[in-house]
Amino acid sequence: MSHSSSPNFEGILTQALAELSAAKDSSSLQAWRTRYLGRQGEAQKLLDGLKSVAAAERPAAGKAANDFRKALEEAWASKGGGESVETAATPGVDPTLPGRPTPSGAVHVITQTLDRITDIFHRLGFALADGPEIETEHHNFDALNTQSDHPARDEADTFYLDLPPGPHGRWLLRTQTSPVQIRVLEKRKPPIKIIAPGRCYRRDEVDATHGIFFHQVEGLCVGEGIGLPHLKGVLEFFFRELLGEGTKVRLRPHYFPFTEPSFEVDCSIPGKTFRGKEWLEIAGCGLVHPKVLRGVGVDPEKFSGYAFGLGVERIAMVRHGIPDLRLFYENDVRFLKQFAAHGAV
Ligand code: DAH
Repeated sequence: MSHSSSPNFEGILTQALAELSAAKDSSSLQAWRTRYLGRQGEAQKLLDGLKSVAAAERPAAGKAANDFRKALEEAWASKGGGESVETAATPGVDPTLPGRPTPSGAVHVITQTLDRITDIFHRLGFALADGPEIETEHHNFDALNTQSDHPARDEADTFYLDLPPGPHGRWLLRTQTSPVQIRVLEKRKPPIKIIAPGRCYRRDEVDATHGIFFHQVEGLCVGEGIGLPHLKGVLEFFFRELLGEGTKVRLRPHYFPFTEPSFEVDCSIPGKTFRGKEWLEIAGCGLVHPKVLRGVGVDPEKFSGYAFGLGVERIAMVRHGIPDLRLFYENDVRFLKQFAAHGAV
C-alpha cells in the first residue's frame, strides 16, 4: 500500500469489519483490536502515512483517515469492547434470575447505645437539648466555673480554633457536653430537665480507652427543691434499666468545677468485674454550683439542680464487652456486623 497516493481506506475498512464480525472468542477479538486499533495498528499507520501525502491532498486525506479510525472504534464499541460477546454467549447464564441482594446497613453500635440511653431518660421525663460542637471558651469553661488556670484549658488538652476570638472568647472544639447546660439555661427559665447527647473532642493520646473524640450524654435538672436524692434516684433507675436489675450505683466524692458537691458514679453489675475490680467508674455528677446558676441569671436561693455526664463509649464497651475503643471508629465491617441485628435500618 502506498501512502503517497490516497490510501484505500474503504477496502481496509470493509475487510476489518468482516474480520470483526467473524471474531467470536476473546483472543481473536483482542488480536483484531491490536491489528487495527493498536499502537502500531492499521489506523495508526494510515495516520502516520499522512506526512508523505502531498500538501494539497492532506486535509482531505486527514479527514478520511480520521473517519476510518472512528468507524473502527465504533465497530469495536458496538461489539461491546470485546467482552459482551463472550459473556452473553456463555451457556448457563440465566438473565431472568433475580439480582444479588445488596447488603443492608445497620445503625452503628454507638448510635444504638445513644438511642438506648435517650430512650430511658425520655421515660423519666427528660427533654432532648442540643449545642454546638464548636464552642466558645466562655460556654465550655468560664460559665462552668472553670478558672483560666485550669489544666483542661491548656492548648495541650483542648483543640482551639485558629479564628479571631468573639465576644465569648476563643473558639474551640467542646471538650465536654456540659456547655449545653449553659446554652439551655441562657434560653429558658427553670424548671428544666434535659439531656444533651453529643460529640466532644480532646487532645488525648489515642489508646484503648482514649480517643481524640468521643460521645457524652449530659443531664441537667433545675427546679425548686431539687437535691441529691433526686440525682441518686434518677441514676439508679437509669443504670438498672441499662445494665440490668441487680446493678448497684454508688456516688464517690470527687471534684468538678461546675458542681458542688461533686461525685464520680460507680456501678457494680452482678457477676461482672472490670479489670478484676467490682466497681466501674462510669459517670460524673453533682449539684449545680450556685455560681453557675448565678452566671445565667438564675437565683440559687430559689432554684437548685443536679447535673451529670456519661461517657457513651464507656457504656457501649461495658454492655457489649468491647475491649478497645478504637474498634468503634475503624469501620471494620466484621466488627460492626456483630451489632447489626440490634440496629438494622
Ligand atoms: N463534663 C465532665 C467531664 O467531661 C463530666 C461531668 C461531671 C458532667 C459532672 C456533669 C457533671 O454534668 O455534673 O469530665
